[in-house]
Amino acid sequence: MTQAAVELQGVCVRLGLIWALKEVDLVVQPGEQVALIGSNGSGKSTLLRTVHGLLKPDQGKCHHHPALQQAMLFQRPHLLRTSALNNVALGLWLDRSQGLNWAQAKTRASEALQRFSLGAVVSQGGRQLSGGQQQRLAMARAWARNPDVLLLDEPTASLDPHAKREVEALMAEWTSASERPLTLIWASHNLGQVKRLASRVVYLEAGRILADLPVADFFNPAELALHSPQAHAFVQGEL
Ligand SMILES: Nc1ncnc2c1ncn2[C@@H]1O[C@H](COP(=O)(O)OP(=O)(O)OP(=O)(O)O)[C@@H](O)[C@H]1O
Ligand SMILES: [Mg+2]
Repeated sequence: MTQAAVELQGVCVRLGLIWALKEVDLVVQPGEQVALIGSNGSGKSTLLRTVHGLLKPDQGKCHHHPALQQAMLFQRPHLLRTSALNNVALGLWLDRSQGLNWAQAKTRASEALQRFSLGAVVSQGGRQLSGGQQQRLAMARAWARNPDVLLLDEPTASLDPHAKREVEALMAEWTSASERPLTLIWASHNLGQVKRLASRVVYLEAGRILADLPVADFFNPAELALHSPQAHAFVQGEL
């Protein structure tokens, strides 16, 4: 039996006065593409941050596959006050598990920036880029670490249609690379994108998982209504 990439058992997370996650059970196998959907405040970012180890469950357990590298793209990425190239290279260089010297880190960073169509702005200050360029820079930074498990919080939310298509194409390409399956867990408000890229869809409402289905079942209205009337109502409202 293969070990799960990520496993959450009965996870509850309290933020301030509210329980942002309630009794969350989620097992993700290597190579799955899991989309997290749900309205604002339903707990998608909290779930991703918990999976990434940034929030500790107040109850329950969160396990990671010990051999898999994880990287995360945040909903509001934090860029350093330095060039786009250095933003990526520094992350790589400081991550000792990458084993790269500064010259190697810069080479890998440069490749990542090309990949995300940022070749023309490598020397520009990361914080001076447009919102969509900053988003792509943060994504290049996560991707450059060559992770096995990639957590993306609304990766295309601020991108123009062309950039959105490009990033989606990259996501599709990574997940179909056969020699090493990438595990992708991402939050999205774009149901079309979820339909195109997910193998499985998890619907959250007020911190609880109310539906967790293969993508074909999730987008089959009769099937979804049977599993979760709330998720069905959410999807119908979005279409
Ligand atoms: N730092 C915090 N302190 C207190 N409450 C928080 C904090 N961060 C998030 N919350 C609350 O936790 C709940 C879940 O928030 P979360 O950011 O996970 O939602 P989300 O599904 O990602 O929403 P969105 O679609 O807007 O990104 C919300 O009720 C939010 O107000
Ligand atoms: Mg969020």
